[in-house]
Order: sequence, then structure tokens, then C-alpha cells
Amino acid sequence: MVKEDERLNVLEELHQRILVCTKCPLANERTNAVPGEGNPKAKVMFIGEAPGSEEDLQGRPFVGPAGRFLNELLVLAGLKREEVFITNIVKCRPPNNRTPSNEEIMACRPYLEAQIAIIRPKIVCLLGAAALKAVLPELKMTISQVHGQAYTKSGIVFVPLFHPAAALHQPKWKDILRQDMLKLKGLLAQVLSG
Ligand code: URA
Ligand code: SF4
Repeated sequence: MVKEDERLNVLEELHQRILVCTKCPLANERTNAVPGEGNPKAKVMFIGEAPGSEEDLQGRPFVGPAGRFLNELLVLAGLKREEVFITNIVKCRPPNNRTPSNEEIMACRPYLEAQIAIIRPKIVCLLGAAALKAVLPELKMTISQVHGQAYTKSGIVFVPLFHPAAALHQPKWKDILRQDMLKLKGLLAQVLSG
């Protein structure tokens, strides 16, 4: 168990390792690894799929078009970007933004698990099908079936959501995502109070 005041250092150290990681072939393609960013004591964590081109260039998660939409969504849930923690299931950009392979997801998984163990969020939002499958494989349901619903596992409440990038191309999903963020606001009040 990581002590309260050590969280920032332990997380920093982990992120330094991610920046130089060569555990999977994505290391050869990246400009920058994108460990994730936010509050080391965040109560709420968001997990996306993989860095895109803007993220790869800046070394920061969700800073492109999907990130701008995510910022808008955070406001709907009553969350400030700096109070949450945002990361991805793989920390390096797959060429042409293809879906990360199972091997890449497995290779990168210890980093995500370490981030969850250090930050100890109460609620983890899974953005899109890849994050859902990687984190809750036992659910065996599609994002369309489970979006906006809460699943508790190991004391953490997981909430699958449509991916903001996918929703940018699907106006219908954009509205669903906005509604789910309002639902999330209610869930946050409930989970964080008790
Ligand atoms: N899409 C993702 O899944 N993650 C990012 O960081 C940016 C876009
Ligand atoms: Fe390492 Fe993950 Fe990047 Fe692969 S994607 S090189 S496992 S940090």
C-alpha cells in the first residue's frame, strides 16, 4: 500500500519508466510515450484506448479533438480536468491509430495496474470498446449494451462509456455520452459521499 505522501513520487517514478519502455513494438513507432496525467489522489480515473497523433507529439493524453470533447464532457459531470486522472490502456501510439493488439495491451497492462494501485480511484470510466474489453473482459458485453452502467470489481466502480473520438463521428453517440456524463455526476455524488 502506497502511503499518502509518497503517491506523487511513486507515480512519477512509474511514469519515468514508461517514457523509456521498450516492452512492445509500439516503442519503435512513437514520438513520445504518454503515461497519463492528473491528480495522483484522483477519486475518478478515465481510461482511453491509446494516444493519437497529437498525444504522441505532446506526450500528454487526450489533447487532440477527442480530448477537447472530453473536456466538455467533464464539465457536464461537474469534474475539473486537474482533479481527475486520465490515461490509456496502451501508453504509445499505434501506427495510423489502429486498435492496439492483445499482445501490446498485455505488455502495457502492468503500468495501468500500477497506476490504479497507486492512485486508488473510487470510480474508473472506461472510454470505448478497447478499454472495456481490456479492463472488464469477463463482462463479455458490448459498449452499446453497458454504457453508463456501474460495475463494481475489487472495490472500484467501473463505468463504461462511448469513446469521445467515436462519438465525434456519430452525433447519436455524442448525445448518449452527454447523458451518461450527467448520470455519472449523480453516481459520483453517491459513491464519493459513502
Ligand atoms: N484517444 C484515446 O483513446 N486516447 C487519447 O489519449 C487520445 C485519443
Ligand atoms: Fe511499453 Fe506500453 Fe509503450 Fe508498449 S505501449 S512500449 S508496453 S509503454
